[in-house]
Amino acid sequence: MAEYVVWKPYYSVDNASLDMEHKIIVGLINELYAAVISKKEEGDLKAISDRLVRYTNKHFQHEEQVMRECDYPRFYDHKLEHERLRQRTLDFHNNLNLVTGRDMLRFLNDWWCEHIRESDKAYAPYLQMSMR
Ligand SMILES: [Fe+2]
Ligand SMILES: [Fe+2]
Repeated sequence: MAEYVVWKPYYSVDNASLDMEHKIIVGLINELYAAVISKKEEGDLKAISDRLVRYTNKHFQHEEQVMRECDYPRFYDHKLEHERLRQRTLDFHNNLNLVTGRDMLRFLNDWWCEHIRESDKAYAPYLQMSMR
């Protein structure tokens, strides 16, 4: 089955554990996509999106800790973006019966690709510098 979000090497933030977490999140979005197109019941979709919400929180906590450790100058802007994304992901999770699965996937795809490609990539050089 085709994947909804395809991981690309240029998404890498040059940190193996953060890259792995991003890949797990992309995997969960793909799992949700597969469940939507095979018209799984709402309970099944909810179980996947629940894992996504919990894993996203865990990832954001880890990423924020890493950014703090390398004195990333745009830490607060990034944290604010996490808060917004966390809330929107939770809103979708709590209203799965109101929004279509497709809307949710489009949002997740857009924000993840956008967030990883732009905002997460921006801290990568600081992470590298702090490790020298
Ligand atoms: Fe982030
Ligand atoms: Fe991230």
